Amino acid sequence: MTGRFVFAGGRVIDPATGEDAVRDVVVADGVLAGAEAAEGADRIDVTGMVLAPGLVDLHTHLREPGDEHTETVASGTRAAAAGGYTAVAAMANTRPPADNAAVIQAVRDLAVAAGLCDVFPVGTVTRGRDGELLAEMGEMAAAGVRMFSDDGAAVPTARLLRNALTYLQAFGDDLVIAEHAEDASLVEGGHMHEGIRSASLGLAGRPAEAEEIVVARDLALARATGGRLHLCHLSSARAVELVRAAKAEGLRVTAEVTPHHLTLTDEDLITYDTSRKMNPPLRTVEDRDALRAGLADGTIDAIATDHAPHAVEEKESEFDLAPPGTIGLETALAVVITELVAPGHLSLARAIEAMSTVPARILGASDHGGPIASGRPANLVVFDPEAEWTVEAPFASKARNSAFLGRSLRGAVAYTVLHGSLVVANGKPTR
Ligand code: DOR
Ligand code: ZN
Repeated sequence: MTGRFVFAGGRVIDPATGEDAVRDVVVADGVLAGAEAAEGADRIDVTGMVLAPGLVDLHTHLREPGDEHTETVASGTRAAAAGGYTAVAAMANTRPPADNAAVIQAVRDLAVAAGLCDVFPVGTVTRGRDGELLAEMGEMAAAGVRMFSDDGAAVPTARLLRNALTYLQAFGDDLVIAEHAEDASLVEGGHMHEGIRSASLGLAGRPAEAEEIVVARDLALARATGGRLHLCHLSSARAVELVRAAKAEGLRVTAEVTPHHLTLTDEDLITYDTSRKMNPPLRTVEDRDALRAGLADGTIDAIATDHAPHAVEEKESEFDLAPPGTIGLETALAVVITELVAPGHLSLARAIEAMSTVPARILGASDHGGPIASGRPANLVVFDPEAEWTVEAPFASKARNSAFLGRSLRGAVAYTVLHGSLVVANGKPTR
């Protein structure tokens, strides 16, 4: 449905303005309109539901080009829409990697053709994502890329990252390097958090120091260069501490955390569930609690999914052979509501801020994240915060490697509006 419609009776939560009130929201010709436009518009009763700015994911793997059997831009953005997202940053570790303007434009064209979610392609930091020479970041910035990352691995040397942070500033003050903070030499051969659990499960570990070392290195280089740094999927308590201190000092740093690192721990690997194998790995209860506290106090800015689709046959192998990653777009909001908001660890307004308003700002996605105000692009999510459902295949994603499979969750997306079009209605993608 496009044209004109009104969501009637919903609770509007808009972190961009601080609004939390029951009112009607009118959509007309792609934008939000005033009450006068409600006359004659189709009414959609959303009493009891929450209406918020569409969610924004800073960390989605869409797998196209190269691994279309696991996900495509079309299937991944359908998963995003189903999960309430209206914008996602598409990670650059495709095959070939997004290290030039042609791949960037191809991904964007596929997203526009699918019409389900705005996609902001991330460019690599290094050419070929091979960690040796800087990529043509200037060319990609000229093509509209805002975020650069070699995600999947850290930028391997301090010198390369220093050069990248310095070089990027020549092309714009809002450009950001997003780091996957794991020291390669410490995590090599490891499959889960290194600790008591990895010893008892007989699996080689990836120690928390691997993250701390790269975070400390990167913060020192952000300080030295004045460059803008974003830290992906933080997983350890000490990394949160380092970011807290860096922010107190005024460094230009932001950070994200995933729903799985906020809710699961290495104890959840007792069944050797390969969907719970990811990089960085699930860590201890103390780490999880530090991530929760960092998110609540703003040290961690955003919740990002790290949606990482993998083929069933690849995940159905022994734990140490399975590729790392869990899908997350379709479960993120419900996991956050069920595990963090309902028990009182996080307010619903802060959750929406961390899943929409703040990531939109980090990404420079100015059409997203609110405010929900007349004349603004109509990018919205409407969800029932009480609706209960069970996580099970099939997903809108092509993949089914969810760390939350079988969980019963609370909070279900009913409508997603992308530039005024209902891309999800009554809980189902419309295209
Ligand atoms: O678990 C992960 N999966 N971590 C990453 O950094 C990469 C991602 C992937 O691409 O599958
Ligand atoms: Zn990563």
